[in-house]
Amino acid sequence: MKTTLASAVAFLVATAHSSVVFMVATEPGNNGITYSWVTDRWVCHELTEPGLYKNLSYAYVSSGLANGCALYEDARCNGTSAYIEKYKGDLCCPGAVNLTDVKFDKKAASWACY
Ligand SMILES: *[C@@H]1O[C@H](CO)[C@@H](O)[C@H](O)[C@H]1NC(C)=O
Ligand SMILES: *[C@@H]1O[C@H](CO)[C@@H](O)[C@H](O)[C@H]1NC(C)=O
Ligand SMILES: *[C@@H]1O[C@H](CO)[C@@H](O)[C@H](O)[C@H]1NC(C)=O
Repeated sequence: MKTTLASAVAFLVATAHSSVVFMVATEPGNNGITYSWVTDRWVCHELTEPGLYKNLSYAYVSSGLANGCALYEDARCNGTSAYIEKYKGDLCCPGAVNLTDVKFDKKAASWACY
């Protein structure tokens, strides 16, 4: 039992150090269609998943090495962007962002974490 838990924790720590967890949804407050990805930093992703393109209203960078993730209005991480800062505990940063609050509702076409 203890061994299993220890290796599970070791795995989580290892993945947290090499990647970031980015979560999005099509409605404010993590409602509607939801998606989450574990990704490396500095990699641009197109929002090709069903229902997500130009349809995001919520984003949350929950953990990992990255400082945050950016959503872009155009493909290939081009055009205007909104930066979502990583949640760092209750003392800092809201964490979850309703994109209506940052004037980026239903705009994102691609994204990348840094
Ligand atoms: C985001 O929207 C949801 C649903 O409308 C609301 O419950 C929540 O308080 C909002 N969060 C922020 C940070 O405004
Ligand atoms: C946007 O998301 C809603 C669910 O929040 C879904 O019903 C709708 O079909 C989506 N629209 C597009 C254009 O993908
Ligand atoms: C980004 O947008 C600019 C201005 O519209 C354009 O000139 C450039 O070719 C675009 N770059 C990519 C990689 O799409």
